[in-house]
Amino acid sequence: MDAGLFCGLAGRLKCVLFALSFLFLGYPAYAADTTTPTKSSRDVVLVGDAVCTKCHDEDQAYPVLRIGKTRHGVNADARTPTCTSCHGESEEHARTGDDDHPQPPDITYSVMNSAVPGAERVQNDISFAPSPASERSAACLGCHEGSSRMFWASSAHSNRDVACNNCHQIHTGDDRVRDVQQQTELCFGCHKEQRAQMHRPSHHPVPEGLMGCSDCHNPHGSAGTKQLAKDSVNETCFQCHVEKRGPFVHNHQPVTEDCAICHNPHGTTIAKMLKARPPFLCQECHSHSSHPSQAAALPDVRASSSRQLGSVGRGCLNCHTNIHGGNSTENSPTAGRFRR
Ligand code: HEC
Ligand code: HEC
Ligand code: HEC
Ligand code: HEC
Ligand code: HEC
Ligand code: HEC
Ligand code: HEC
Ligand code: HEC
Ligand code: HEC
Ligand code: HEC
Repeated sequence: MDAGLFCGLAGRLKCVLFALSFLFLGYPAYAADTTTPTKSSRDVVLVGDAVCTKCHDEDQAYPVLRIGKTRHGVNADARTPTCTSCHGESEEHARTGDDDHPQPPDITYSVMNSAVPGAERVQNDISFAPSPASERSAACLGCHEGSSRMFWASSAHSNRDVACNNCHQIHTGDDRVRDVQQQTELCFGCHKEQRAQMHRPSHHPVPEGLMGCSDCHNPHGSAGTKQLAKDSVNETCFQCHVEKRGPFVHNHQPVTEDCAICHNPHGTTIAKMLKARPPFLCQECHSHSSHPSQAAALPDVRASSSRQLGSVGRGCLNCHTNIHGGNSTENSPTAGRFRR
């Protein structure tokens, strides 16, 4: 509504002034509060970075300005951090930065302690001890709590002092852990046992770069065990192996319970990532009576007996072909035995 409508003729000049002040002074002040902040002339890449970038630049052993090219450098986004969002106000540090013995910033991550490739080669003249893992992660969680990090606090990584920067690299556009091809090596760095398993003859195509650990794991923690991407082992597998979900007319109890009873998803020396070769795999459970309990033997002239067939080729699977569940509707008491 036009402010002028409320003005008598006598007060017209005053009114015009009032309207002008509203339009040209009041409104811009209001606008400054809601639109995104803009860089001042001395800021280099992030809003308000001048206080730090007067000393830190791209020429250092560990160049910092490349952050301007990452998602953290999108200044048009009001949620974008500045140096002090992650490193703390660090006033003492900035004040003493030129001294012989500068005070450390409030939060230090230390390149040596992070995912930076070749970090061991980055040598600063002066180096500060990294802040405790919980403080380093807390700086990030201020903006990144929730969503896929909902279970971070109770995760094995957080409990064993693995911090965000052990996996994520901030001052570069190439965050290795988010690239399926490069992620595996990073995880292997701490998980030697899985490295060995993944290089066994039967494995998921992870070393080949077609899948990443994060297809099955949420390294930020999860509601289920072992930081699995879904709430259970089976739900995690069903993401890709939907045909194993069923429903089947005849279910095999261990299959509905946990795929990892028979398979090691990281890899094994036996085909199909099986933990043991049939008949031994099957005999871990089926050994009470009849042919399932018969000792393995090489086939002889009468090689048609189930005893011998159970130990050649696919073993018990020569006959029990549908081991994950059968849909036979044959009206017979033995129909449900995963033979088709
Ligand atoms: C007056 C110069 C100066 C200013 C201003 C300054 N620094 Fe530093 N900073 C240094 C020096 C010198 C070092 C020692 C390491 C090196 O050789 O780079 C250092 C080291 C650091 C380190 C590495 C710590 C480690 O070992 O992990 C971080 C992080 C850091 N500064 C952040 C900041 C931040 C954030 C600001 C702004 C609030 C800032 N600095 C302002 C001079 C300065
Ligand atoms: C989103 C969080 C974040 C922001 C914003 C950020 N940093 Fe960093 N900084 C880190 C992390 C994490 C590391 C550890 C190395 C890495 O992951 O890249 C680091 C490393 C450093 C280092 C080297 C530390 C060492 O060990 O030598 C310096 C210096 C530094 N930052 C300064 C700055 C300056 C200056 C700014 C502003 C232009 C800034 N940082 C903005 C998170 C941040
Ligand atoms: C002041 C808020 C703030 C802080 C502190 C912060 N971030 Fe971010 N971060 C953002 C915003 C905003 C984005 C971009 C929007 C989004 O992806 O949600 C982002 C994006 C990211 C992304 C995705 C990048 C991409 O390319 O999609 C990662 C990974 C990330 N941050 C990690 C970290 C880590 C690790 C720290 C601590 C060292 C940290 N952040 C600290 C605000 C923050
Ligand atoms: C053990 C390694 C590891 C640690 C530790 C880690 N992350 Fe991640 N992060 C990943 C991987 C892997 C992805 C990619 C996930 C994907 O593509 O499904 C990711 C993705 C992200 C993303 C972008 C996608 C998303 O889920 O929103 C953000 C933001 C992020 N991490 C923040 C953090 C923060 C904050 C911390 C510390 C509290 C942290 N991360 C700790 C490995 C890690
Ligand atoms: C195809 C899915 C899948 C992929 C890919 C995968 N994992 Fe796993 N991982 C699992 C399952 C399922 C378990 C739980 C096994 C169990 O309960 O016996 C597990 C367990 C683990 C454990 C805990 C082991 C223990 O005994 O406590 C670690 C550590 C692990 N995985 C690391 C990795 C790493 C590192 C990668 C990438 C190199 C990776 N995983 C890739 C499915 C997968
Ligand atoms: C800096 C070292 C480090 C890195 C890097 C790392 N982890 Fe871990 N991880 C650990 C530690 C320590 C544990 C807890 C002890 C253990 O089970 O070995 C752990 C545990 C796990 C577990 C078992 C969780 C549980 O609840 O038992 C899984 C799964 C896992 N990590 C997956 C990953 C994946 C996937 C990556 C890469 C995206 C990764 N880790 C990168 C150190 C690391
Ligand atoms: C992100 C998708 C994905 C997830 C999740 C996944 N797999 Fe797989 N799986 C694959 C791919 C891709 C192959 C390889 C198919 C090929 O080589 O033809 C495969 C192959 C297999 C094979 C056969 C290997 C062979 O030698 O033929 C088994 C057994 C298997 N997966 C079990 C599992 C189990 C158990 C889980 C859950 C812990 C799981 N998978 C989760 C994608 C996945
Ligand atoms: C009782 C042991 C057992 C359990 C539990 C089990 N499997 Fe299997 N799985 C096998 C055997 C044995 C084979 C080899 C079949 C063959 O050689 O024809 C196999 C083969 C596979 C294959 C490759 C061949 C195919 O049929 O596609 C995939 C994929 C697979 N299993 C996924 C799963 C998933 C997903 C689960 C959990 C829902 C699971 N398995 C649970 C025993 C099991
Ligand atoms: C972890 C234990 C376990 C393993 C390993 C296992 N099974 Fe089973 N199996 C069971 C259970 C439990 C039942 C349900 C028994 C029942 O209903 O009496 C079952 C049922 C069966 C049945 C149907 C029995 C009936 O009375 O209808 C057949 C056939 C069978 N399994 C074959 C196999 C074969 C072949 C293998 C190896 C590839 C195998 N099982 C591995 C636990 C296992
Ligand atoms: C030559 C085909 C054949 C082979 C090989 C075979 N089975 Fe069977 N199995 C059958 C048939 C047919 C039945 C149903 C008739 C019956 O109950 O005797 C059956 C029934 C079963 C049953 C349920 C009844 C019982 O006897 O307990 C189980 C469990 C079983 N098989 C497990 C196995 C295991 C474990 C192996 C490998 C050591 C195996 N089978 C090898 C054909 C075979």
